[in-house]
This record gives sequence, C-alpha cells and structure tokens, in this order.
Amino acid sequence: MEQTDIIYFDNAATSFPKPMQVYDEVRRSMLYGGGNAGRGAHRLSMAAARKIFDCRMIAADFFGCEDPEKVVFTMNTTYALNLAIKGLLKTGDRVIISDLEHNAVYRPICALARDRGIKYDIFDTGCKENTSDDKLCEGIERLIRRDTRMLICTCASNICSRTLPIEKIGRLCRKRGLIFVLDAAQGAGHISIDMKRMNIDVLCVPSHKGLYGPQGCGMAIFGDGIECDTLVEGGNGYDSLNVGMGEMLPERFEAGTLPAPVIAGLCEGIKSVMAVGVEQIAAYERALYARALEMLDNTDGVRVYAPQFAGGVLLFDLDGFTSEQVASELDRYGICVRGGYHCAALAHKTLGTRASGAVRLSFGRYNKMSELEAFWRALRSVKDMR
Ligand code: ALA
Repeated sequence: MEQTDIIYFDNAATSFPKPMQVYDEVRRSMLYGGGNAGRGAHRLSMAAARKIFDCRMIAADFFGCEDPEKVVFTMNTTYALNLAIKGLLKTGDRVIISDLEHNAVYRPICALARDRGIKYDIFDTGCKENTSDDKLCEGIERLIRRDTRMLICTCASNICSRTLPIEKIGRLCRKRGLIFVLDAAQGAGHISIDMKRMNIDVLCVPSHKGLYGPQGCGMAIFGDGIECDTLVEGGNGYDSLNVGMGEMLPERFEAGTLPAPVIAGLCEGIKSVMAVGVEQIAAYERALYARALEMLDNTDGVRVYAPQFAGGVLLFDLDGFTSEQVASELDRYGICVRGGYHCAALAHKTLGTRASGAVRLSFGRYNKMSELEAFWRALRSVKDMR
C-alpha cells in the first residue's frame, strides 16, 4: 500500500504527515548545522545553537512566555512532566490532578506517593454530566487542603474531546497559592495557551503532536519564580569545572546533547501552526468530529463516549468486537486508528469504557472529509463480519 492510500486518524499519538517545511528543515539542519550546540564555538556548533535559540524564541512567543531562556528542551512531554512533578513536589506534599490524566502524569504521581509519601486528590471533570466550568472549579476548591502544593492537569484529554477551563483553573491556583503545572500533550496546537494570562507555572508540551514537529523532543516552559530540582545531571556546555548544574535556565535542566535537527524541525512546525492559526485548526477538527459523529450515530452497535464534546478526538466501541479487533480490521483497509487504553487507564475509568478499552479516531489538519466516508464504509464492512 502506498503512503498516499493511507488514512491516518491517529494524530493524538503523533501527527502525520508533517508540513513539508518540517522535513526540509530537519534535512537542512543535519546537512548544514551538524555541530553540537553549546559544545564549542566553531561555525557548525554555532549554527546548531542558533537554530535551537530560534525555536526557544518562537515557542516562548507562541505560549505567552516572556523569557525564551525559560523554554527547556526535554526528551518528550513525559520527561517534562516528570521534571516538574519530581523536581517540585517534596515529601508530605499533596497534589490535585484531574480524572482524565494519562500515565505521563498519573504514573509519576503514583511513584511519588510510594517513594515520597505524597498524597493526591482527583477532581471530577464532569465528562458524564457536562459540568459547568464554575462547578468544576468549586469541586477543585473543595479538595484544597493546608498541605496542597500543586495542581497538575491536562488541558485536553487524549481519549475524548473534553477540554478543561485552564484560565479559570490557573486563576484559582494563583488565588490559593498552588503551583499550576499544565500538561499540554494533547492541547498544544489545538487550544490557544498563554502562560501569563492563564497563570501557568510549568507548561509541558510535545514537539510531535499538535505542533507538527518531529518525534524526539518536548518542552518544559517555566514561569517566574519556580525553583525546581534537576531530574538528570550531566554536561550542559556551561561552567564545566563546577560539579553542579548551576541555577541558570535553560542549562540547569538540559543535561546532554540536544537534538538540534529535531528542534529545528519543531521550530518550523510551530511556525506552520501560527501561519494557519490554532482557532482555524480547532474549528476544522470540530467539523470533522461532527461529521464522524453523525456517521457513527447512524451505525448500529456503535457507542460514542462523551459525544457532547466536539474536537479532534473521538472515542467509540463496536458491539461484538474488542477495540483492538476493530483497529486491526480497519488497518487492513489502510485506516490507522488506535484501540486499547491509550496509556490512560484513569481516563478510561472516568469514561466507563469496556474491558478492552475503546477505539480512538484523532484528527489533524491534513485529514479530509472524504477520508471519513472511506472510514465509515470500512467500519460497516467490519461490522458485517459479525
Ligand atoms: N499519549 C499518546 C496517545 O494518546 C501516545 O496515543
């Protein structure tokens, strides 16, 4: 099967394809900027460093961070979240998370509950009853106790199109003195995020999803006055005689060689999202969602989860099949979707999916309405196998 015959509805796992300028820039960067950034002052090292700095500037601008030096490149979003969670929470702290978190948040929190005796409370995102934003925030307020130090939540679920009222949550965290860590694994590039306006203290973001960059890096973007321990130590090209990592950002958290070609590609990905516009991308994804929902509503044996939230992610199951069976049968028609639990057991429990999880369609800006027609035809053929 040619790549062109493939229908890709797995953009929540990683977006595909990327804008052509991303592929071009990765290649150009490897060919002409192949030095190691910050490890020498020769031209190839400086060329790599310039690309990395360009990306810090663009990312800071895109996410409303005033200081590009606060943009820290990490291996991925999971690493960025681990840095924020493990670098900020101390023994005995309490943290609030949402009932839609995926394992990148839930597992490090559980690890700290085991290793550092931290406690966590889970707030209700009201996925079933369509809770108002104010009611959701009242639910959070009720969970805040004397030792609550942080609130960490996703801005958009990776298994349904529920988004959270980030600005209101950020305001509440500021009012109550909580550190606010936002997991934008799914939201970045789909929702406008402004760290300053939304009072976000640490923003954790992937390159390879809604920003249309390559896989292999993420970002932890810090707000003012956040003192975070390091997660990994090593060379950072700075103050090499000192045994410590230093206090300066971004170097404090960037141990080891950065993937300069990946970061150069990410820079182009962000520029392309800025050129199209986050609102336009989100509106198009909502239109795809509406059409897909209409089709699935007209298919016997299909159940859609949290259908009241329209957006880039649609979760469903089909009677008589496990989610993995549906996903692998669709793959035979060249349709890429993800079944199972999507690294998000807590969120699946919240939505009440079946024992085999559910099937996820996740849209991106390169999907076409006509691809949905092909998906629907294939799904009906799968259904008829029963
Ligand atoms: N978290 C990614 C997903 O939702 C990998 O598929």
